[in-house]
Amino acid sequence: MFCYLIVALILIFLILPSINWPATSRPGQVESKLADYVTSEWVRRHAAKETNPFRPTPENLKAGQGDFEEHCATCHGLDGSGENRFGADFYPPVAKLTDDDAQSWSDGELYFIIANGIPMTGMPGFSRNHDAKEIWGMILWMRHLAQLSPPEKAALESRSHMSTEQHQKMMEESHPEAEHH
Ligand code: HEC
Repeated sequence: MFCYLIVALILIFLILPSINWPATSRPGQVESKLADYVTSEWVRRHAAKETNPFRPTPENLKAGQGDFEEHCATCHGLDGSGENRFGADFYPPVAKLTDDDAQSWSDGELYFIIANGIPMTGMPGFSRNHDAKEIWGMILWMRHLAQLSPPEKAALESRSHMSTEQHQKMMEESHPEAEHH
């Protein structure tokens, strides 16, 4: 027992601080697998087994899109591609929301993730200031993003280019010295 304690202390105080561990690097395979295991077990054990009580009516989808674009798109992209608007690297990276990994969570599990966030990652928890209807609406939109029609996709892409340019323009205006970089 004492032996494990010594190993843990050496790891925490000597080894971990000496590793160069920038957020611009990518987690290795073993680390990703372990982290995914812990996250998915945590979510599966605590999430309620419920299905979205709201239907994807045009009105609910519109509300969900509005909330998603306000609260999620800066990190996950307007189209859920995982391309963040900061031009920065997260550790672990921002998840793509349209692929099987993300879409295979049940409704109740997605609700749990969005409400609670994922500790020790960039994924924040929204439950304190967002009610259930808002969270379910964003889940409707997240499901919809995985099955966009080609015209819907094109429209989102052009808006996403436009908003990146607007964002750059805004940054240049507020930090004129950035133009010289
Ligand atoms: C500040 C950046 C940020 C914001 C804002 C954010 N996320 Fe995330 N999100 C992340 C990161 C980073 C991860 C990856 C966490 C990990 O690897 O465990 C993530 C993971 C997720 C996952 C799990 C995906 C998977 O494949 O397991 C879901 C679902 C999700 N986010 C939905 C949302 C929704 C919906 C919103 C808006 C209400 C949102 N996120 C807002 C950064 C963010």
